[in-house]
Amino acid sequence: MTKKKTPKKSKSIRRKHQSVSTAKESIAVHKTHQKIKPFYQSKGLYIYNNDFLKTNCVDDKSIDLIVTSPPYNVGIEYNSHQDTMSYKKYLSFTRKWIAKCYRLTKNDGRFCLNIPLDKNKGGQQSVCADITTIAKEEGWKYHSTIIWNEQNISRRTAWGSWLSASAPYVIAPVEVIVLLYKKQWKKISGSRKSDITKKEFIDWTNGVWTFMGESKKRIGHPAPFPVELPKRCIKLFSFIDDTVLDPFLGSGTTLVACAQNNRKGIGVDIDKKYCELARSRILNETTFVQQEFCITKEQINKV
Ligand SMILES: C[S@@+](CC[C@H](N)C(=O)[O-])C[C@H]1O[C@@H](n2cnc3c(N)ncnc32)[C@H](O)[C@@H]1O
Repeated sequence: MTKKKTPKKSKSIRRKHQSVSTAKESIAVHKTHQKIKPFYQSKGLYIYNNDFLKTNCVDDKSIDLIVTSPPYNVGIEYNSHQDTMSYKKYLSFTRKWIAKCYRLTKNDGRFCLNIPLDKNKGGQQSVCADITTIAKEEGWKYHSTIIWNEQNISRRTAWGSWLSASAPYVIAPVEVIVLLYKKQWKKISGSRKSDITKKEFIDWTNGVWTFMGESKKRIGHPAPFPVELPKRCIKLFSFIDDTVLDPFLGSGTTLVACAQNNRKGIGVDIDKKYCELARSRILNETTFVQQEFCITKEQINKV
């Protein structure tokens, strides 16, 4: 007897299913923004002045890409966050926010996590290895790790035993961006439109990135990353119009990169002053929002 073949789903039926789930996901984002009042909102950019662990400002399965740099627990003087926990407590805080990020991300969503490779202040720790393990335990799948060569040699503060093998200190003056994804690496939702150039794609798929860190003084925040970092992540790993989340927004760098590269963005920070700083950077560093002001001016002139 010849076995009857079960017909495979045609491409068009599969595409139909994909677009249905995408539509549901975008409705979810819309619902959220009606529920909770943002600190700032303009043209697809939202800042929430909340504790990320407590807030409900982002709906489950609504995020395409997370780009963030959490507190490193190295004694930085933030306004509203204690950066000197025990390592055990720090990892428990890390587990909570990473698990929450997982819930908020779409099934084909990605996570670019900027953390230190190692820690030597207050005792050596394998920070990147420990946090990556936690992320995998919370469901994230591992893709690869980018080394960010910040060229910051001033980080070298101790030699240990100078010119002696007794107890020398070795430290790599780099940070990392760990690349994770929720269920599948291949992106099927969203506009499917990319805006990365050939040169950018070739350069950035080489996982050693070399560019300078950002000046704390210039930005007015104790630990900003440069716009170059979220810009590369956004252009490599998301489509135009996707929704990007930064749960630790700080001075707003990720939202500046979103505005400059036609992505929607949601940023959360526990500190009101940093939210104000993020808002003023969006207004000053992006033509995206300035256009809105031009229209308003024209309208005013007409009256
Ligand atoms: C390393 S900084 C992020 C800097 C950011 N990438 C930038 O370019 O400015 C970490 C930020 O996390 C914020 N933060 C700490 N705990 C938080 C929490 N529970 N919820 C939301 N934000 C928090 C701090 O206020 C700080 O601004």
